[in-house]
Amino acid sequence: MLRRANELASIIRDSSTVHIVTHIDADGITAGAIASETLRRLGKKYSIECIKQLDEVTIKRLLEGNHELVWFTDLGSGISKQYPEMKKIITDHHECPPDSDTSFHLNPHLFGRDGSYELSGAGVTYFVSKAVSEKNKDLSSLAIVGAIGDLQDRRFCELRGLNTEIVKDGREAGVLQTVKDIRFFGKETRPLAKLLQYASDPLIPGVSGREDSSVAFLQELQIELKEKDSWRTWVDLRKEEKRKIISAIIQMLLSKGFGYQVAARVLGETYLLCREEEGTELHDAKEFATLLNSTARYGQYEVGLQVCLGDRGKWLKEALNLLSGHRHNLVEGLQFAREEKIQKRTYVQYFHAGDGIRDTIIGIVTNMMLNTEEVDKALPLIGFAHTENGDVKVSARATQDLVDRGLDLAVALTHAAQEIHGVGGGHNIAAGATIPKGKEEEFLQFVEREIKLQLVS
Ligand code: C5P
Ligand code: C5P
Ligand code: ZN
Repeated sequence: MLRRANELASIIRDSSTVHIVTHIDADGITAGAIASETLRRLGKKYSIECIKQLDEVTIKRLLEGNHELVWFTDLGSGISKQYPEMKKIITDHHECPPDSDTSFHLNPHLFGRDGSYELSGAGVTYFVSKAVSEKNKDLSSLAIVGAIGDLQDRRFCELRGLNTEIVKDGREAGVLQTVKDIRFFGKETRPLAKLLQYASDPLIPGVSGREDSSVAFLQELQIELKEKDSWRTWVDLRKEEKRKIISAIIQMLLSKGFGYQVAARVLGETYLLCREEEGTELHDAKEFATLLNSTARYGQYEVGLQVCLGDRGKWLKEALNLLSGHRHNLVEGLQFAREEKIQKRTYVQYFHAGDGIRDTIIGIVTNMMLNTEEVDKALPLIGFAHTENGDVKVSARATQDLVDRGLDLAVALTHAAQEIHGVGGGHNIAAGATIPKGKEEEFLQFVEREIKLQLVS
């Protein structure tokens, strides 16, 4: 992989102008930011765009753009053997067939590594950046934000594989710190009661999803919720207070019969950007990633990109505005999905959001739904939503348990989409597709057929 990273680095050095094409999620934005900053430091001219997916319209436009070099980050693995007339490099981590191995494509899957948890799009891009110059090690914190945005720590409650190399670089460069702590989202900015109310991995029985129970739970432990006029957050707590809450949650899980494995998920490695201020949306990698997800998913990629590149003024302010809209949309989206009701079939379950949830956040909502108490974990969950172009966006999510039994959603969705003139891809545990409207039922049948084969074999 290092040799391949060096090859990509020399292609970059030999070019004077580069066009970056990246994905709209946190991993995509951080990947794009790492690529941009690498080029800026080299004194190259560059431009960048963020896209939902690499479809034919986009490729046609790129071909017409006559770029000297196109750098695909967090996407592109599917076209490494196509369009030889387009000079390109690809730093991606999505599943891809072995025949997509080319000298300008760096992807963990081509080297026997799993891109769903060992390395993200931003991580692959970082390796090329480091091959360009060791001085780019400070960009490792962005790569970690990308990995966390893609939930790469979910499997083992910490980052593993090649990601750990990046963490090491981050520590050495003084930009990253790791702390064993509670894993819930919002430790720096969410009022305590909200931290527990929205906890989903693991769920806290009787507390998750209910504000009054969350408040009562904390009061019973004699934890002050406020300090003067402001709500206390997790980082405001004293060590003993943290310990008290953590052991109460673990005891609660064990007493309700959840078992050690689930209870142990309360704690894990958390990743802090030590050059950022504590108590802000930028200090904890999880919160930083959510801030970025609030930008490009709403067509405002410039905002996320500028924050990654260091702006702490007007762009950050705009990002924070977008964040409150994003939070609101997720709460509403989850409510909407709940009301839609999940339809169960033999090998999958699904819901159709129609125009009720944006195609750019249906994946996040599907993930959240699968994490709720009321959803059966024995079947993968598929969410459908309409796109602006009149197509249907599909997002599929599964549990690690199903993956361990042979499930590969990327393969299932890619094949099923191909059958009905759609496109799909992703990872074993999380995949997506875009298909023509009206073909949902046919698509589900093809997906079920694939999954049945995977689980049997
Ligand atoms: O587009 P990309 O590959 O970067 O996105 C990865 C997707 O996979 C994210 O939406 C992330 O939430 C999902 N994922 C997941 N569980 C994991 C790993 C990834 O849901 N364990
Ligand atoms: O969009 P969503 O978050 O559901 O995507 C899940 C995974 O599937 C991501 O890694 C995404 O990049 C991938 N995907 C894909 N091709 C599509 C749609 C999604 O490879 N058409
Ligand atoms: Zn990614």
